[in-house]
Amino acid sequence: MMLLFLTLALQSASPPPGEEPVAPYVQSDRNAGAAAFEDRTMWRAFHGEQGVARIVDNMVERNIADPRISDIFKGQDLIRLRRTLKEQFCYILAGGCRYSGRDMRAAHADMGLQTADMAALVENLQAAMRDEGVGFAAQNRLLAKLAPMRRDIVKVRGTTAADPR
Ligand code: HEM
Repeated sequence: MMLLFLTLALQSASPPPGEEPVAPYVQSDRNAGAAAFEDRTMWRAFHGEQGVARIVDNMVERNIADPRISDIFKGQDLIRLRRTLKEQFCYILAGGCRYSGRDMRAAHADMGLQTADMAALVENLQAAMRDEGVGFAAQNRLLAKLAPMRRDIVKVRGTTAADPR
């Protein structure tokens, strides 16, 4: 109990440079939402740390320039988003990172994300992986890890006029 308290206190004390503070949460690799691959094959297919950094930066750039979803990213902490996404991908791709971000349900709560938003983001990720020269089979293996996260991320099925955004 004391340890939990201390962990929460430390996490809320000082966010990394350039990032906004977030509400306290318990850090765990389980928050990444998928188990890591078992060997380094995928890490190599994604060209390691530099490759993953390029892919995440490219995907985030595409998201904020994409008229279908750009509004969702306005006013968000993109420095934290890039950092935690790189950690998440590195963890899942067996690059040896720890994931320090929130779980997918908490990270996307109250955004009212729809199936179409998820499809747009996946498309942008595919384009970023293609730009990096990641092989098609490796791309699909990562996407298969991300696909089940949809149930924690998408809250509104289909596109309706009741979209709260
Ligand atoms: C499998 C798909 C997705 C993954 C793996 C993913 C991953 C992440 C991660 C790691 C974070 C940061 C967690 C943290 O700050 O602790 C995050 C936050 C965020 N995500 Fe996603 N995400 C996905 C889908 C989406 C979609 C479809 C959208 C919108 C089109 C979206 C928009 C955002 C935004 C705006 C934030 C920042 C929230 C904040 O700072 O409060 N994400 N996501």
